[in-house]
Amino acid sequence: MCGIIGYIGPKNAIPILLNGLNRLEYRGYDSVGVSLINQDELSYLKTKGRVAALEEQLKEKRLQGNLGIGHSRWATHGQPNEINAHPQFDCQKELALVHNGIIENYTSLKKWLKQHGHRFCSDTDTEVLPHLIREYYQGDLLLAVQQALHLVEGAYGIALVFSKEPDKLIVARYGSPLVIGVVARGEYIVASDPTAIIDYTKQVIYLDDGEIAVLTRQGMKIVTLDNVRIDKKIQVVKWNLEEIAKSGFPHFMLKEIFEQPKTITNSLRGRLLVKEKDISLGGLGDWLDRIAKVKRVVIAACGTSWHAGLVGEYLFENIANLPTEVEYGSEFRYKQISIDPSVAYFVISQSGETADTLQSLRKIKQGKGNVFGIVNTVGSTIARETTAGVYLHAGPEIGVASTKSFTSQVTVLALLTLALARRRKTIPLKELESRMIALQKIPQQVASILKQHKKIKALAKKYCRYNNFLYLGRGYNFPVALEGALKLKEISYIHAEGYPAAEMKHGPISLIDRQMPVVVLATDTEDVIYQKVINNIEEIKARQGRIIAIATEGNKQITKLVDEVFYIPKTNGYLTPLLNVIPLQLLSYYIAVQRGCDVDKPRNLAKSVTVE
Ligand code: F6R
Repeated sequence: MCGIIGYIGPKNAIPILLNGLNRLEYRGYDSVGVSLINQDELSYLKTKGRVAALEEQLKEKRLQGNLGIGHSRWATHGQPNEINAHPQFDCQKELALVHNGIIENYTSLKKWLKQHGHRFCSDTDTEVLPHLIREYYQGDLLLAVQQALHLVEGAYGIALVFSKEPDKLIVARYGSPLVIGVVARGEYIVASDPTAIIDYTKQVIYLDDGEIAVLTRQGMKIVTLDNVRIDKKIQVVKWNLEEIAKSGFPHFMLKEIFEQPKTITNSLRGRLLVKEKDISLGGLGDWLDRIAKVKRVVIAACGTSWHAGLVGEYLFENIANLPTEVEYGSEFRYKQISIDPSVAYFVISQSGETADTLQSLRKIKQGKGNVFGIVNTVGSTIARETTAGVYLHAGPEIGVASTKSFTSQVTVLALLTLALARRRKTIPLKELESRMIALQKIPQQVASILKQHKKIKALAKKYCRYNNFLYLGRGYNFPVALEGALKLKEISYIHAEGYPAAEMKHGPISLIDRQMPVVVLATDTEDVIYQKVINNIEEIKARQGRIIAIATEGNKQITKLVDEVFYIPKTNGYLTPLLNVIPLQLLSYYIAVQRGCDVDKPRNLAKSVTVE
């Protein structure tokens, strides 16, 4: 997500801030900015684009100062442009603040601040923070920050400077990482991750949630929001730069797989309102009520996003009783069909730039249809051109194989399904509530699956030399079978196919022998089709197939039928794709590593397919 950097000390801050921003580049960003305090004057420079663009502009506009903050933004609220870039300011442009995270109650805070005379320039959630701090400022910056943060809901890592207290860099954290690099007493570099610090020092202090650090040229103090003093230990960073960028993981793909408890939480944040038994999807606004009245939904997407769309089809049809079709972007764009005004069209894309998905969107718009986006990259072409939409908030995905985007797409589709089911009254409120509670538990259940990664690693070792795999699932998990097969083929170059389990007997069953491992998704034991999946397993067994089953915890019976079993926690059936896909992602990852493949950059593939 966004990157934060800050410096206070005797040196010129600009080169340190720029170096930090460059170091944070791997996180992906769309705009950058810096702000400095010199004497008691605040200056700043922001731009859309990369650090190089900022550096170029700094040749013209020379900023001075040995106290400053910088930010690389990966947009979550508001387009990536200069105004929305950080730092954000108070009305007088005397207080500059950079932020990583999402302020969930920014709409109500903004309304309140406007009533108190504050004027806003940007579309960001962040801008409420400098205004709020300024509102509370009465000669004590720390106190004002503490009072302001007490009112904030959501996640933040922030750094701020204020020209009225020109010897102070304040940082605070709740839910978004912040680390202080101790260069010397009175010289500190703060950053959202240590990559931006270790060129200068390896001595760091990691802030914990609810902590605020006040850094001055005399020293530092760390306190809580209630001003309780905290003593923190200095730690020594042992990783090198490469390792830090990947948070110690050997590949971005693995890092992103392990990020999923957090990224799913981010997709749910502020949207799943269990107490109110409601779903809030602000990006769709009033459109949600109109979508709930349509006769049909059409979803267009490519690759993994298409698989998420297929899960969406099962969700919309089974729970919201809304007939749905899922189209490949590449096929839909050339279809000789007229756009139907009684249909709600959706496009799904991680990058927001996939050419075939974009052209499908344009075709729909040309036909005067309304098209809604489920997109990860804020401000991307698809996000800009859709009528309205929902962002994933999964953060930049760097590994070419899509992992965390898939689970966030399915999470958003599940939210959308519940929102539509509520409006269409297709399920009783009690059922809605239990489905919501189950959804809320998903991040912790994903975390518990990830804890068992060694079991999958062992399976990968055992099966990595096979050259063909079959993946089978039914209902909600048929798309997961497709996704498991896609993950395996794209990063380990093993031929793999996904099928709805019962389709086996119509052809693929002839392939089954000892050389063809079959991965079967056999969860959701209460569903009527579970028994049918067991029958399919029997069919494979009868033909000497090797079976790796993904089953629900407590299902001992299945061990008698299969060669391997990996257990996932029990959840409400409609959410099984979110759990089942995790072992499949891990299996493809570990198999690819065993086979010595370049996991993050598989041959012939690009992260974003912007050509036909
Ligand atoms: C597979 C993968 C691709 C993308 C596809 C669509 O791991 O990453 O199949 O899912 O190219 O990309 P987006 O979602 O960016 O439109």
